[in-house]
Amino acid sequence: YRRLRVALLGAGAVGSQVASLLRKHGDELADRAGAHLELIGIAVRDPDAPRDADLPRELLTTAPEPLIVGADIVIELMGGIEPARTYLLQAINSGADVVTANKALLATHGPEIFEAADQVGAQVYYEAAAAGAIPIIRPLRDSLAGDRVQRIMGIVNGTTNYILDRMDSEGAEFADVLADAQRLGYAEADPTADVEGYDAAQKAAILASLAFHTSVPLEAVHREGITGIDKAMMDAARHAGYVIKLLAVCERLPGRGDRPESISVRVYPALVRRDHPLASVHGANNAVFVQAEAAGNLMFYGAGAGGVQTASAVLGDVVSAARRHLAGGVGVGESNRANLPILPIANVTTRY
Ligand code: HSE
Repeated sequence: YRRLRVALLGAGAVGSQVASLLRKHGDELADRAGAHLELIGIAVRDPDAPRDADLPRELLTTAPEPLIVGADIVIELMGGIEPARTYLLQAINSGADVVTANKALLATHGPEIFEAADQVGAQVYYEAAAAGAIPIIRPLRDSLAGDRVQRIMGIVNGTTNYILDRMDSEGAEFADVLADAQRLGYAEADPTADVEGYDAAQKAAILASLAFHTSVPLEAVHREGITGIDKAMMDAARHAGYVIKLLAVCERLPGRGDRPESISVRVYPALVRRDHPLASVHGANNAVFVQAEAAGNLMFYGAGAGGVQTASAVLGDVVSAARRHLAGGVGVGESNRANLPILPIANVTTRY
């Protein structure tokens, strides 16, 4: 097999699992990708930090730039806007395809990154940026490209679903379960991003952009978190036959008269009827319920957070990137579609 050089930026919960699986299943992945995926280095801030998986010390470096310019595929799992943005652009401009799970970056600088990639014929893969292990980026971008998505209702944050689920099933208090979610590794470094809905809003912007073939800026996403939800509200919802879930709702609103068709993208704690498929999503799982004109209702379900689970989505992207590389830069998801039309955004506050 030909060798493809893979650089990994970041070795946190997801990154360390990606490195470990790449090494563990290297032969099998080579058969699938048609290339040997050689991990040439792992850029980290602190080589001595404790990690979830054992990584060979000689691969760790604190200097990402030499790795980036020497790689065919760059995997960015550092998170945050900078320096991740600079490194991704550097990777794209030095001819690499890039794989990222960075929802914050894509939700805020997606158009800039896609534009840069389109300029040089590179591809940006980001299956892990929304809903962890669940395949949802490709289904929206590719499988449903021939249909018209009407609405997405997603549970896209594992931490808040875990918290609300335990408040509902055990009558637990918010603060106690948040501490557990942090211990289990679901929560972001700063859990405000989870409990105030910022993480879900980033994912909603990404999903809505794909579903409606447009570009949804993060500022256009209406956002409410779950910090105002208490035990009494959970009880009242239960008695009325509902459960409270933090939903990301992305929907197409029909035009009327001379008002054009628009979209609404919003994240808020919603009352979900107990017989709705989303009501039975427990623990840190995620689910994305998609309603499309021709396909009808589709439900995507699985682990929305967690290092090794999210690493599965990252590695799938790495295999896709390798196949595309071998095909001479064509194939799967050939364009990042940087120049998408902007649809009017009209947020409404309908409750479900
Ligand atoms: N903190 C995120 C969550 C991790 O709880 O869903 C996955 O993006």
